[in-house]
Amino acid sequence: MPRLHVNIDHVATLRQARLSTEPDPVLAAGLCELAGANGITVHLREDRRHIQERDVRLLRQTVKTLLNLEMAWTEAMLALALEVQPDQICVVPEKREELTTEGGLDAVAYEEKIRSGLPALREAGIEVSLFVDPAPEALEAAARAGADFVELHTGAYANARGAQRENELKRLQTAANYAHELGLRVNAGHGLDYENVLPIAQLPWVEELNIGYAILTRALYVGLDQAVREMQDRILAAAPPEGE
Ligand code: PXP
Repeated sequence: MPRLHVNIDHVATLRQARLSTEPDPVLAAGLCELAGANGITVHLREDRRHIQERDVRLLRQTVKTLLNLEMAWTEAMLALALEVQPDQICVVPEKREELTTEGGLDAVAYEEKIRSGLPALREAGIEVSLFVDPAPEALEAAARAGADFVELHTGAYANARGAQRENELKRLQTAANYAHELGLRVNAGHGLDYENVLPIAQLPWVEELNIGYAILTRALYVGLDQAVREMQDRILAAAPPEGE
């Protein structure tokens, strides 16, 4: 059964709406951990539209579970990652106009750069994950680049309905198995919510789910503590019954 990593970017989105100090993602991260989250994920975007450098630095000091930094593969972000030393980085593509991360990383295009940047990250004890579409060529490139993990992009699954959703789920199953065969560890995320998370939590080999928007929007109604606990309960439902 996968572990839950809560993406708290949108706490910072609300704060940045008034360029204020509240709500503070650092406090939110602590509340998520108290509610049972197994990790905290933040995306420090180049345009700094939500999470700020200050947040990442403070979170490094306060997060007691695992800190996962989503970032574009740029010189500046690599330097920051090496300095701050999150437990894990997840390399994502970034486009300025997008509302959220849209497609997976073009792992083939980044393969060489990532291979050459990996030793420094390894030496700093940082695990490297690549956010990729569930496509064989992306998984093969991630394996050749030497990544520790791939995070399978679940956005197409989340947006699909009916038979199309079943097809997307099959693609994710095939990709999870293939990633494992290639020696990669597997995470998943994007667009997951309380209704669609269970089949993803049941995918083979998946270790961590990164979930943000659904938890934070529910938190507006029921509070962050309950929103995280309810998501943990949905994921727990993926565990095989005792004795099996
Ligand atoms: N994983 C990655 C790589 C992401 O970029 C995001 C969005 O920032 C998420 C997971 C979380 O997606 P959502 O907010 O839709 O749960």
